[in-house]
Amino acid sequence: MKNIIAIPGSLRKNSMNLELLSFISKNINTKINLMITSQSQLDLPILNQDHFLSEKLNQELQEYKKLIISSDGIIIASPEYNGSVSGALKNFIDWLSRDLNPFSNKKIGLVSISPSPFGGLRGLMHLRDIMMQLGAFVYPGNVCISKNGSSYSEQQMKLINNFSENFSSYIS
Ligand SMILES: Cc1cc2nc3c(=O)[nH]c(=O)nc-3n(C[C@H](O)[C@H](O)[C@H](O)COP(=O)(O)O)c2cc1C
Repeated sequence: MKNIIAIPGSLRKNSMNLELLSFISKNINTKINLMITSQSQLDLPILNQDHFLSEKLNQELQEYKKLIISSDGIIIASPEYNGSVSGALKNFIDWLSRDLNPFSNKKIGLVSISPSPFGGLRGLMHLRDIMMQLGAFVYPGNVCISKNGSSYSEQQMKLINNFSENFSSYIS
């Protein structure tokens, strides 16, 4: 059994990116254990090198680091804000990267969903750069879903399921 940690990049309660991870988890190969981590993990103060996190938040962050380090791979679902990743996600990555960077040599898959015709692709290009900078092995294919309505099209479901299958092989 392989363990994947899925990170939602949006704090929004009804986040489409969170829902995309949920869709992936329901359809992924049964040999994969996909754990979607809480959106509240991202709810950290803006990193200021002059300040430290409270003991409680720091402990949570260290636990989260351990979770990432022990995982076989990560999927990040990032919203696109002004052509880039959300500030909350970037801040979370910055906090995690301090001292011991848990993303080094980690296999990472990137997905996004947005109402724009590109489905968040521009944000994922930035996220790819950031993760590569941290030494991650970023899976070459993206899934960028353009959606404003309630359900995925047949073609979108096929894209998402192909990604899930290919990423599962990538981490095996
Ligand atoms: C500050 C801001 C900037 C945004 N910029 C973009 C953008 O550049 N491209 C895009 O496709 N959507 C953009 N959006 C719309 C988001 O894609 C949309 O709100 C989406 O639902 C966010 O993801 P979520 O549902 O997972 O929270 C932006 C939204 C906000 C709040």
